[in-house]
Amino acid sequence: MNILVINGSPKGGSSNTYRLTSAFLDGMKQELQDIQTKELSISRMNIKPCLGCFSCWNRTPGQCCIQDDMQHVIQQLLWADVTIWSFPLYYYSVPGPLKNLIDRQLPTLLPFMVENEGQVGSGNHPSRYDMSGKKTVVISTCGFYTAKGNYDGICSLFDHLCGKGNYTAIFCGQGELFRVPELSSRTNEYLSYVKQAGQEYIKGNISVGTQEALNQLLLPRETFEACADASWGIEQSGEKNNSAAKRESDTLIFTRQMAALYCKENYPGKDIVLEMSYTDVNECYQILLGKDGSHVYTDGTLTATTKIETPVTVWRSIAAGEIRGDEAMMQGLYKVKGDFTLMLKWDNYFGGSRPQVKQAETARPQRNTNMNIMLIPWIVLWVASAIHKQWGCLITLGVCALVPLFYYRNRKTFYDILTNTLVTGFSVIMLAGGSEKWLMPLSYLCFGFMWTVSCFGKVPLTANYSMNNYGGEDALQNTLFLKTNRILTMLWGVLYLVTSILTWFLMRTSVSSLVGLINSILPIFMGIFTVWFQKWYPAKVAGGK
Ligand SMILES: Cc1cc2nc3c(=O)[nH]c(=O)nc-3n(C[C@H](O)[C@H](O)[C@H](O)COP(=O)(O)O)c2cc1C
Repeated sequence: MNILVINGSPKGGSSNTYRLTSAFLDGMKQELQDIQTKELSISRMNIKPCLGCFSCWNRTPGQCCIQDDMQHVIQQLLWADVTIWSFPLYYYSVPGPLKNLIDRQLPTLLPFMVENEGQVGSGNHPSRYDMSGKKTVVISTCGFYTAKGNYDGICSLFDHLCGKGNYTAIFCGQGELFRVPELSSRTNEYLSYVKQAGQEYIKGNISVGTQEALNQLLLPRETFEACADASWGIEQSGEKNNSAAKRESDTLIFTRQMAALYCKENYPGKDIVLEMSYTDVNECYQILLGKDGSHVYTDGTLTATTKIETPVTVWRSIAAGEIRGDEAMMQGLYKVKGDFTLMLKWDNYFGGSRPQVKQAETARPQRNTNMNIMLIPWIVLWVASAIHKQWGCLITLGVCALVPLFYYRNRKTFYDILTNTLVTGFSVIMLAGGSEKWLMPLSYLCFGFMWTVSCFGKVPLTANYSMNNYGGEDALQNTLFLKTNRILTMLWGVLYLVTSILTWFLMRTSVSSLVGLINSILPIFMGIFTVWFQKWYPAKVAGGK
């Protein structure tokens, strides 16, 4: 299959729209190996406007009198089985140079007028060439918050060119967001739907589910417009012509854009004041994160809850995706002072709220993991079977049998499955007459090993569960989050290795039936320590102390 991409953006390869087009092509290529692609970037071509002389119809039929790149374009259009028109919306239409290209296709038509059966308009010029079986895809981004209502001119144009609805279209609002690295998790998600559309297109049709996902807004209107307005750095005065308006500093623009991305739905119950201190340019701004939204203060009068001290260059590197925020912090490139909770939940606050729309059929809701699914079987084994061996083991087996019910609501982890296998094994062996004097300490030993050994893997045990409170799977990319969890997992693991030795002795005393309860005392203190440590340690690292 021959595919021609006509990139009509003056920005060439760095066009927002072209990102969608590339994703669509990737999807097509994934589905069909036998694809040949050619691309024409109009910004690099010499295509002059049509002179309107009609010499391509009378004096030199089929040949334009202007010698430029258009002859090559026509050859490629005839070569292609599918032509993808990729362009930004300009004044509700196509950019001027692309309109020139469209006009200059006149030599491909015959001058005679024919009836336009069942089609739009008042007549047609037949093609000089056999165009049957050729297909058209139109991909475009625009600057307003939605594509809805802005593409009537484009639809009308392509209805005339291809026949009503005889082409596939992907129109996307908020196009400028595709160049904002901070929003790449959302824009990449959108691009994955475009890729899926490319795959489905090759198979015949873009599904309703994918189409619905493509129709979703990238950000809610209010968030998007606040962010877009802030990006210009010009104050909106009451005056019509604000040509005298002074442009704000880049750091203030950056701060305002950040403030615009604040998701007020995640308001934690009390106001937060985030102070952004740009150390290299000596500027400092405060963002108040409140119940009703955010506000930027330039006079520094508020008391900061959290203060970030960093050179602008570091923010830029993070924004450009050259370094991850958490890595920059670990390298001491910036400091955080005050309450560190905001940093741990950064993506919750500044990920840009998602529009409230129906989930696409293709998207599966994300389920959380649940640490209780892993802990409860062990606790029941230790407490119940120490009090009464037979009944305790039977109760434990019952609990293990019920655990899979939780998998309907919660995502299971490797440790949930390992726990269920081990605890079931211990209960069965004890029921079969295995000595609890050996098996109880051994169960603590296994539990301790499970925790300590996990520290040598990429994701320590506790991170599998605590990530739910820190933005889900994304937290597993955060070096500081993983390091904090690694330390805690190791400490808990060692505690249970020690507990296994203690249990060995206790099981040989008169209080052996209370071993489960006695062994719960130390974990209570460890739990209190954990709550404190998971706040204190990241704050210590971030503070650069
Ligand atoms: C001259 C000009 C006219 C524009 N007209 C519109 C418009 O009518 N409607 C709209 O929503 N966006 C409009 N935009 C915004 C672009 O469509 C938007 O920024 C698009 O994502 C740019 O895509 P590109 O990077 O692929 O060129 C216009 C932009 C420019 C520069």
